[in-house]
Amino acid sequence: ISGDPAAGEKVFNKCKACHVADEAKNKVGPHLVGVIGRTAGTVEDFRYSSAMVEAGEGGLVWDVPSLSEYLAKPRDKVKGTKMAFAGLKKEDEIADVIAYLNEHPAE
Ligand code: HEM
Repeated sequence: ISGDPAAGEKVFNKCKACHVADEAKNKVGPHLVGVIGRTAGTVEDFRYSSAMVEAGEGGLVWDVPSLSEYLAKPRDKVKGTKMAFAGLKKEDEIADVIAYLNEHPAE
């Protein structure tokens, strides 16, 4: 993990309308506690797109490379995703927000 988690906490402001990372609580999007290492589309009680469920069934696990791709271009990485977010443009923002997420592992 090469990013800066403190900078990533600020980047996460762009995600907060839809996600929390510090408690297992779903909003418009699934909670992101422990997302690194988690199979895509597997938070209980969250209604994912079929595209995201199928991506997980196909073996997509969120790690640094796969998250980097998804956060840059969500709709290219998971065609049919219902995450209404254009993506992060800067590579350092992506690395930083991943470092922030990495500070919120599953218990
Ligand atoms: C899904 C991260 C912004 C809504 C996801 C997933 C990740 C993620 C990793 C997959 C989770 C899983 O498989 O359990 C982020 C980050 C964001 C961001 C880091 C900011 C940089 C947003 C925003 C919205 C949103 C702004 C709402 C407008 C959703 C929804 C899903 C999702 C609805 C489920 C997608 C589906 O089922 O296809 N997000 N997200 N996200 N996110 Fe985001």
